[in-house]
Amino acid sequence: MSLARNTVRGFFAAVIVAAAALPLGACGRDEPDLTNGKALFTQECGTCHVLGRAGTQGQTGPNLDNAFRTALSAGENRETVEGIVHRQILHPRMNSVMPAGLVEGNDARDVAAYVAYATARAGEDEGALAQAGLAGAKTGEQIFTAAGCAGCHQLSKAGSNGTIGPSLNDLAQAAQEQGGGSPEEYVRQSILDPDADVVQGFQAGVMPSFEGRLDDKQVQALVDYLLGN
Ligand code: HEC
Ligand code: HEC
Repeated sequence: MSLARNTVRGFFAAVIVAAAALPLGACGRDEPDLTNGKALFTQECGTCHVLGRAGTQGQTGPNLDNAFRTALSAGENRETVEGIVHRQILHPRMNSVMPAGLVEGNDARDVAAYVAYATARAGEDEGALAQAGLAGAKTGEQIFTAAGCAGCHQLSKAGSNGTIGPSLNDLAQAAQEQGGGSPEEYVRQSILDPDADVVQGFQAGVMPSFEGRLDDKQVQALVDYLLGN
């Protein structure tokens, strides 16, 4: 993906100029909150981006581990990466499918700081950070939000309006139309193996599988929540 690499290089140049003009810490807060950054990343960005430590698998945008790996091993530091990510959040390229301002203010800084911390870093998050985002979500509603389902699906009771996938407002009906099993089995399969049964009018390969990303309890809580049990 030489295009993506050129983009990154362009950002490096721009950020170095910006950094010269603006003293660090001008935002008035010194330590970013990585836990908040991770939670927001999983919700708002993970539907489009892979980031290993956050456990996200979106395919619409570039893989954010790969995006910075080369620059980091060439000696760029993570603060520079943070600046690039922050800029991208506030000002994606013109006509990008990435919406501007998904997170703002200190939230944007926190997300940028988490991405800069996590990108191309071996191992897993530990301590409080391990529980941020999807891993710490317990109720169906929390899981729905943390897993980024809302970014792609409409679900009235969650207040979400995503249109990349079908509305989830009447899954009992959908299960019937897909001909077969119990609604519970149908919804479970849709989450763990989305391509097994692709909804008419939509494409396979868009919804990521949540197999291995949600534990059994989380899957059950999510299925119950979606079916209104
Ligand atoms: C709807 C999909 C979508 C969402 C949501 C999204 N992005 Fe993106 N992102 C993209 C696409 C597509 C690109 C590549 C085109 C471009 O640069 O705009 C991109 C580019 C990037 C890049 C530059 C990577 C590179 O290789 O140049 C970064 C960093 C990034 N996104 C971070 C984020 C963060 C952080 C969030 C959440 C606040 C986010 N994205 C949300 C689709 C998305
Ligand atoms: C990147 C977008 C995306 C994300 C994120 C996503 N989905 Fe989907 N989902 C889709 C698409 C597209 C379809 C239709 C194609 C298919 O059946 O695989 C779909 C189908 C479904 C269906 C079947 C609906 C029906 O009418 O039969 C269910 C249930 C579902 N998703 C639940 C979820 C849940 C729960 C999450 C979060 C854990 C989630 N999805 C995350 C895009 C997404």
